[in-house]
Amino acid sequence: MPPSILVQRDYDDLSRAGADFVAEIVAARPDAAVLVATGETPMGVYAELARRQEAGTFDGSLLQVFQLDEYAGIPDHDRRTLYAWTLRAFADPLHIPHRRVVRLPGNGDIADGCAAYDRSVAAAGGIHLAILGIGINGHVGFNEPPSDRWTTTRAVRLAPETIRANARYWGQREPVARRGVTVGMMTLVSARRTLLMASGRSKRDIVRRAMRGPVSADVPASLLRDADDLTVLVDRSAWDGAA
Ligand code: GLP
Repeated sequence: MPPSILVQRDYDDLSRAGADFVAEIVAARPDAAVLVATGETPMGVYAELARRQEAGTFDGSLLQVFQLDEYAGIPDHDRRTLYAWTLRAFADPLHIPHRRVVRLPGNGDIADGCAAYDRSVAAAGGIHLAILGIGINGHVGFNEPPSDRWTTTRAVRLAPETIRANARYWGQREPVARRGVTVGMMTLVSARRTLLMASGRSKRDIVRRAMRGPVSADVPASLLRDADDLTVLVDRSAWDGAA
């Protein structure tokens, strides 16, 4: 099935449309296994879901959450882990207990932790919904180019542009980490529903390449076009460069 590409006027509209999309899936399956990106792009969707949770018009509390990516070597209790960000932005506002948040390993025996993570995905029957952003080099999660569709959950070396982009999250010029851990493209491409979001002009060229260029490991986001059911939610500036 070709991806459906939904172009929204601006970031607020994108966030509302993203929340509608997630809410519809969760209404049909309240205990869905949801893979949750961090980064700036989905924060509006999560804030909107949190508002609806408080208003009693949405209930995400039964979801099972899977972390998308993590820094390697940041202490487990540091607030700058992407796990901590996942809790703050998604699990806690939706009242999802932490025991139902499947964490990626950032320390210790990472290969072993990744294998345990993949077993948890299998035990959940796979991912029902993957909520994803896109890096300016076409990465999804920390699947840096080139990452083919058979890559598994693993430790990776971050690209220089990813290290720079991630430093901005923490108000620092110093890089947070040079290595990461990511769910592999195999799990992402196998998700039953995929929501890929992009906002702002800086994403326009890579969104075009991912959606209109060849499906290639050199643009890992393009591999999502092989997923069962991909919805791409963009604002106008990320799609045609309009302000
Ligand atoms: C980061 C993260 C991704 C995220 C992407 C886009 O490096 N590893 O999970 O989706 O880049 O981030 P943003 O939404 O902040 O542009």
